[in-house]
Formats: sequence, structure tokens, C-alpha cells
Amino acid sequence: MDRRRLLAGLAAAPLALSACGGGTADAAPVDIPPLKSAAPFPMGVAAMTEQFGEPAWDDLVRSHFDRVTPEWEMKAEAVVDDAGRMTWDRADRVVSSAEQRGLKVFGHTLVWYSQVPRTFAALEGDRRRFELAYGEYVRRVAGRYAGKVVGWDVVNEAVTDDGSGYRADNAWARNLGMDYVRIAFEQARAADPAAPLFLNDYNLEQLPKKRADFLKLAERLLREGAPLGGLGTQTHTPADLAPGEIGRCIRDLASLGLPVHVSELDISLARAGLGDHREGQRRLVGEVVEAVMALPERQRFGITVWGARDKDSWLVREGKRDAPLLFDDDARPKPMAAALVDALKG
Ligand code: XIL
Repeated sequence: MDRRRLLAGLAAAPLALSACGGGTADAAPVDIPPLKSAAPFPMGVAAMTEQFGEPAWDDLVRSHFDRVTPEWEMKAEAVVDDAGRMTWDRADRVVSSAEQRGLKVFGHTLVWYSQVPRTFAALEGDRRRFELAYGEYVRRVAGRYAGKVVGWDVVNEAVTDDGSGYRADNAWARNLGMDYVRIAFEQARAADPAAPLFLNDYNLEQLPKKRADFLKLAERLLREGAPLGGLGTQTHTPADLAPGEIGRCIRDLASLGLPVHVSELDISLARAGLGDHREGQRRLVGEVVEAVMALPERQRFGITVWGARDKDSWLVREGKRDAPLLFDDDARPKPMAAALVDALKG
């Protein structure tokens, strides 16, 4: 499902959600151990600067997670202004807030088709100057946080949903062809000699053709000798996804032998059909854990949920209603969190 349809569908959410008795009211809160202690791999959460100042969020994240992914502070729209000046303060604040709490940071994202700094417009058509500016941008961002991040989403969402292959409708691909992916990985490695470098995308568990195209791109990078160090599957998924799809996806991604990161997990009730899909959420979070646990330890890069509490979710903004995350609006663990812990016990 492409993003426009996804967000339009959420506009209809109230009906679907109320029909499933959803919203943040779930069955009685449950009691769980700290997720980061129960999981033999890192448990991550999306974080935004202002959330660190909110005690309920702060307490929850420090109790249950060992890693944060800046939800937007390291994206182009946050680190470079329209005049091309680098504006580091927001990303620096997320990194320092995380460090103060002993949380690791996963960088997201160096190159994304949907965020091209305005200064690149003047370079379109001049391949040499465009490539120089592109490489410099990647090196500057990756270089600033070298040694401070435990990995990067180097290129995000390079593959189309409709099965046509690689996204071509963006400044990166228009000016550099698909070499923009390899170049980004090479430049990120030049700036950060150690961080594992990930290729990340969404709907891989829902669209087998997209998953095949994603893996084809990953194999091309490996053939070209690009420093590809991992594969991220965002896993923004509806609660009525058919059984087995997530496991198939993670196994396919793991077939290349690289670490696999479930990088942006949320399980939407609003995107599911009418009816109560909270059991579906519990089933699917169990499937994610089982699939990650079935990987060799060196390939379990971790599970990152795209928000701590339901109200922190990008799917619950501008009045849209959903309950896609592990903790309710009062930071209490939901049955979905208990299902995750149960799956960890095997
Ligand atoms: C989203 C954030 O959650 C929103 O707050 C922001 O307005 C838009 O981006 N895939 C990604 C993430 O890789 O960066 C997106 O995050 C969600 C989809």
C-alpha cells in the first residue's frame, strides 16, 4: 500500500477503530519484564528530541529499550536548510540525550527519495557537480556521528511498491542513475569506517515482488563491492496481515547472510479491516519475534518499534486514531507487549 493510500485510509480510521473497540483502551494492562532484558538482541524505539523531556516517555524508554532511532532529526529536512547550511542542533540533541541515558543511537536516514535538500535543484543536469555535492552531504552527516551511531540507514525506500523495480522519480536517481545507492554506501563508509550500513524499505512483508526487487538491489550492491552491512525491513503492517508473511519476509532477507533489522515496527488496527484486530496484533508481534529468534545470532540486528506509546505513533497524528504500538497512552504495557515477551521465551 503506498503512503498516500495508507494515510488516506487512516482518515477513515475512527469507524474501523471504534468497531474493533480499539483506540488506546485495550484489555487490562499487563505486567512484563524490561524488554531489553528479555530480548537477546537490541530493542529499539523511534525518538524525537522533545520526548526526552517528558518523564513518562523517558522512564518507559530507559526501562525497556537500549537503542533509539531519531524519528526525523537526522533526515535532510532537519540537518540542512534551504540555503544549504547544515543545522546540527536537533540531531546533536537527540544523540546527547541518548548518550546521557546510556541509549545507543541508530542513524536514520542519509539518503531518501522523499527528502532532497533544495540546494540540489541548481545542480540537476550537471552530473559531476551533483555527485560531488551528494558525496559531500553523505560524508558530512555520517562523519559527524561516526563513533556515535551503531549503524545507519544509508538509503531508504529505493524500491517501488508497484513492482516496477527501482524508484526513478527522484533527484538522486535522475542525476546519478541507480549508482546513487552504491555511491551513498561508499561515501558513508569513507566517513564512518565502522558502522554497519543498511538498506531499508517498507511493505517488504506485504509485497513479495517489492521484496524480490529489494533483494536484487542488495545483491547488486554486494556484487559491486559496496559496503552493505545489513537489511532493514520497516514492517509498518496492518493487524490483519496473513499469517506467515512476516516470517517469509525475514527469512528471505536473511538469505543474503547479512544482519536483519526490523526497523520501524508498528501494527495498525486502523489499516486492518472492520472487526477487532487486537488478537492479530498479538499474533503478528509473535511472528516477528519468532522469525528474528530463528536467525543466527550475528544476523539479529534487533527490533525497533516506531514509537513508544500509541500516542507517539506517526499513525496517530492530526486526529487519526490507531493503537499500533506496545504501550498505551499512559505508558502501560499492552497485551501486545506481553505477546512479544511470551514469544521471546519460545
Ligand atoms: C516518518 C515519521 O514517523 C513522521 O514523524 C514524519 O513526519 C515522516 O516520516 N518510513 C520511514 C520513516 O523510513 O522515516 C518515516 O517516519 C515513516 C515511514
